[in-house]
Amino acid sequence: MRIYDNLTEIQGYLNQRKRSGDSIGLVPTMGALHEGHMSLINAARACDVVVVSIFVNPLQFNMAEDLKKYPRQLAKDKEFLKDRCDVLFVPTVNEMYKDAPKVSIDFGSLGSILEGEFRPGHFNGVGVVVAKLINIIQPDTAYFGLKDLQQFLLIRQMVTELSMPVNIVGCPIIRESTGLAMSSRNVRLSDAGRVIATEIFKGLQMARQLVKNNCTISETKSQILGFYRSVKGLEVEYFEFVDDSMIIQSKIDHQANIAVCVAAYVEGVRLIDNLYLRSEN
Ligand code: PAF
Repeated sequence: MRIYDNLTEIQGYLNQRKRSGDSIGLVPTMGALHEGHMSLINAARACDVVVVSIFVNPLQFNMAEDLKKYPRQLAKDKEFLKDRCDVLFVPTVNEMYKDAPKVSIDFGSLGSILEGEFRPGHFNGVGVVVAKLINIIQPDTAYFGLKDLQQFLLIRQMVTELSMPVNIVGCPIIRESTGLAMSSRNVRLSDAGRVIATEIFKGLQMARQLVKNNCTISETKSQILGFYRSVKGLEVEYFEFVDDSMIIQSKIDHQANIAVCVAAYVEGVRLIDNLYLRSEN
């Protein structure tokens, strides 16, 4: 595995590979790698060169405390990636943002609901860093996890609207055997916290079942929010049904591809998850 922290050097190497006709797959991450990331890397093996980036992007954190507490374990991540990817890109903040960026990416109404509502400025930061990583690496394909469903849909929109020459692939959520969605933030949970956090997915599964049994969205929301309130140590921030354009749904449209999305705190750790109503898992 080649490791670069310098923009010019990684570009030099990748340009050489591109000239030889190799395709490039990019897996952007913020580190604290787990099996969820591994599934993105496995998908990226469809390309000749797999590039993983690790960069805890300060621009996408709206709370200084959250940025400070974000798990960082570079030595462990390098060990995890050894023999699993071809190139690791670990730029410093100074390498990525020599000056504080003045350009911002506004996703309009799609970026101001759910995550955007509760984390003001978050998607601007995601948009800027993903656009920058795509411009630096110039991958044929970039891979993102569907646990961050809104992020995936907004990135796909950005790439389409700005005619960025890259394919965007969304990879399914990887769950622990308990159903808990894998996330870098899970390392901050105690064993007891992990048990509480498994209730998040249970609520999503219950919601899907209620809708199957013809419950309306408002009935389902009130039952599931009641269930979540009954779980000691779980504090829900939002629980919403959205379609593939990230429009919040108030009625079930059986033709639409609807997902139910949730954000909740357990032991001060913010966790998100979602489930498509049509999915079987
Ligand atoms: O999903 C993430 O880990 C981050 O938001 C991303 C896409 C790497 C941008 O910093």
